[in-house]
Amino acid sequence: PAPGWSIDADVVVVGSGVAGLTTALRCAAAGLSTVVVTKARLDDGSTRWAQGGVAAALGEGDTPEQHLDDTLVAGAGLCDEAAVRTLVTEGPDAVRRLIGTGAHFDTADDGTIALGREGGHHRRRIAHAGGDATGAEISRALVEAVREAALHTVENALVLDLLTDAEGRTAGVTLHVMGEGQHDGVGAVHAPAVILATGGMGQVFSATTNPPVATGDGVALALRAGAEVSDLEFVQFHPTVLFLGAGAEGQQPLVSEAVRGEGAHLVDAHGTRFMLGQHELAELAPRDIVAKAITRQMQLHGTEHMYLDARHFGAKMWEQHFPTILAACRTHGIDPVTEPIPVAPAAHHASGGIRTDLRGRTTVPGLYACGEVACTGVHGANRLASNSLLEGLVFAERIAADIVADRPRSAAATVADHPAPSPLLPPEARSTIQRIMTRGAGVVRSADSLARAAEELEDLHRSAFLKAGAAEPKDAVPGVEAWEVTNLLLVSRVLVAAARQREETRGCHWREDRPERDDENWRRHLVVRLTPDRQ
Ligand code: SIN
Repeated sequence: PAPGWSIDADVVVVGSGVAGLTTALRCAAAGLSTVVVTKARLDDGSTRWAQGGVAAALGEGDTPEQHLDDTLVAGAGLCDEAAVRTLVTEGPDAVRRLIGTGAHFDTADDGTIALGREGGHHRRRIAHAGGDATGAEISRALVEAVREAALHTVENALVLDLLTDAEGRTAGVTLHVMGEGQHDGVGAVHAPAVILATGGMGQVFSATTNPPVATGDGVALALRAGAEVSDLEFVQFHPTVLFLGAGAEGQQPLVSEAVRGEGAHLVDAHGTRFMLGQHELAELAPRDIVAKAITRQMQLHGTEHMYLDARHFGAKMWEQHFPTILAACRTHGIDPVTEPIPVAPAAHHASGGIRTDLRGRTTVPGLYACGEVACTGVHGANRLASNSLLEGLVFAERIAADIVADRPRSAAATVADHPAPSPLLPPEARSTIQRIMTRGAGVVRSADSLARAAEELEDLHRSAFLKAGAAEPKDAVPGVEAWEVTNLLLVSRVLVAAARQREETRGCHWREDRPERDDENWRRHLVVRLTPDRQ
């Protein structure tokens, strides 16, 4: 649809998590007119739900080099070492600047930042807030700073497509806005620099730790705009998500790795610790290893979950260190002080995304990506715990610096430059996609399961184009839900294609028909760029 209203700016930031708001604040502080658009409210993204914290070499005796080593090991041979080096060396200062912006981290008795431990880290390195409410505190501080700086924000705005000028340079985005008064309906923000910070795509799967807004919108937009996307097959499943029953769908409560960092044990129904002997770090092995071990135990015992036992913490420790998790468990009738917590893996983080360089630039001039939506190369085949808030902070600063130094320019987009809208799917297709993806491309994958998923997704794609038996487009009623489902389908198709192609097991991509890591053939990235005829 042609935009009915428009705003002009130097920069438009899409998304309001740690990556988006940090970029926006830095751009605005440098005098650029900056607009933030976000799909729901400013604090509704994934950042708010982060529990464990921000990893950075802040502790005595720790160094960026050690943080680098742990990140590379977790990334299973596919990290970009230069990107990781950037992350870990610039990380500590980025955390200090976040504190300068107003975020309060927990401190030890001597006033230094208190540091927790999580899987894959050989040291205590995780800065946290409110015990297990780190994301909520970061989000609070950034939203407050954005309000104080009086940034132009547009809430309830789903980004639709990238606008480009005649030279193919970024010229803004189209948006669908609901209930924001002067900016209702389909409109446009014209700007020569667009930063996509739209977060992840956990809603591709039935059970996820991600909020309902995590529907892969940024990756879908980038694919439609012809930008390169990489590593989509590497979806990280968090090992310990509160198990709420076999049919539980949508966002599920996380039980942070930090609980294992403080000594909780993974046990089977008989109370036997099954991580002992599997990895030198036992319960604190990298996340992919723990998620696989839990899944294997579930297969072995024919059950749908295992248990996390932290009764030995006692009530006081639970209340002081993990109040959010304690409350979530109790809401669902489980008391971790007196009983083990039923847990199972669920989709948690997209290690891949829109391919960027170290300045956050994508392959489309003027288009940047930051945070979970980006593939900067820091995560490789499996993200190290608590590196993602850090990635958002570090690369946001780099993107703002690049825009300030380079001041991208573009000619105005004309109506003729507006991309053709994709055929829309009806909102009901959401749970169909989630079921297909969970069955075929979940924690455990095989050539057969992926082939079936690919076929089922293609059927859905075809149904969006054609009414049964008639050669005419069948569009669902345009609206946020229909666009979200359309985005979910596009990213799912690309994800499944990549997972079929990668015939090995590496990091969080587990192919039971190809159980070994194959460095000879597969120590490389799968990069996708869609041409209009392949959409
Ligand atoms: C957690 O608290 O376990 C999540 C941390 C992360 O995903 O980085």
